[in-house]
Amino acid sequence: MTGRWVLGIESTAHTLSFGLVDQNGKPKPSVSKIIRPTTGGIHPREAADHHVEQSSEIFSRILHENNLVPNDIGIVAYSQGPGMGACLRTGAAAGRAISSHLNVPLIGVNHCVAHIEIGREQCGCDDPILLYVSGGNTQVIARLDGRYRVLGETLDIGIGNMLDKFARKHGIPFPGGPVIEKKALEWITENPDSTLEGLELPYAVHGMDLAFSGIMSAANKLVSDGKPFEAVCWSLQEHAFAACVEVAERALAHTGKTEIVLGGGVACNERMRNMSSIMCQERGATSYCPPKMYCIDNGTMIARLGWLETNHGRVTKLTQSAIDQELRTDQTPISWA
Ligand code: ATP
Ligand code: FE2
Repeated sequence: MTGRWVLGIESTAHTLSFGLVDQNGKPKPSVSKIIRPTTGGIHPREAADHHVEQSSEIFSRILHENNLVPNDIGIVAYSQGPGMGACLRTGAAAGRAISSHLNVPLIGVNHCVAHIEIGREQCGCDDPILLYVSGGNTQVIARLDGRYRVLGETLDIGIGNMLDKFARKHGIPFPGGPVIEKKALEWITENPDSTLEGLELPYAVHGMDLAFSGIMSAANKLVSDGKPFEAVCWSLQEHAFAACVEVAERALAHTGKTEIVLGGGVACNERMRNMSSIMCQERGATSYCPPKMYCIDNGTMIARLGWLETNHGRVTKLTQSAIDQELRTDQTPISWA
């Protein structure tokens, strides 16, 4: 190996991000660019074009900000899946090009597992249940028999996509989640005695799984029935987050584990963090929240997982480096502690 750093490239959806870990797996903050469409949702082709246009500059910046030269990179990791095909291909192409040019190993990693591993590294927790709440994914995951197993997940759309769609319908551009958080906080700050009466939404828990489209339609109806928008944002968060935390609690009870770590963009939400903490306190468990820059999609988490995988002898041959849009969390064998 010429260099000692692991470069991580994230490109599963709207974010192109390059991050680094050093030879001991210690993370450095990522450099990222997010495409923010002014109208409508994310178009995979447009996001992919954005990533191609930005990749050279972001690569230069991550090196510059860490006083590195290309030869300091000893391993190149990229998100192999799951995600939008067109977007994933841009990160994989950049990864192949850099690793070939530098003549260093290439490692394709599982994006969902990377969210877990950066959370474990940042929070110092050992064997947590992961409550993974992002735009495209909502899963409750536990490590069992050498895999991260999905114990429960959304049956329709990811919780973040639900928040973004609801926001978009009411004129708020992507990403809508942070704006809904702000509106909800405004409502409950100004109306501290507010109850959910008249603001009820359907129950999103289905066994160990979740479903959010019913909640979203009912929230839209509350707005068209004349309920204050801020009040509906508050109710939407209360119902949707309580559902996720309930499934996470069942996962704790079922597995006997005592830690939860949050991951994904919606884990930036203070109310989500707070609900998970309360639930854990009530049952003698601990809820961990990584810094927000490592909850959202970031290249550093890809570098961290690349470091773990290559330390355990795995590399990706060019002939096996194709992306996999449908890669499942439990398809990746976990050989590290
Ligand atoms: P994945 O590929 O893992 O599904 P993703 O592509 O959705 O991830 P992330 O960066 O993990 O990307 O998450 C983005 C989502 O997080 C968006 O839906 C956004 O609205 C939501 N989000 C970000 N911050 C907040 C917040 N403070 N409150 C609620 N939602 C948030
Ligand atoms: Fe993600």
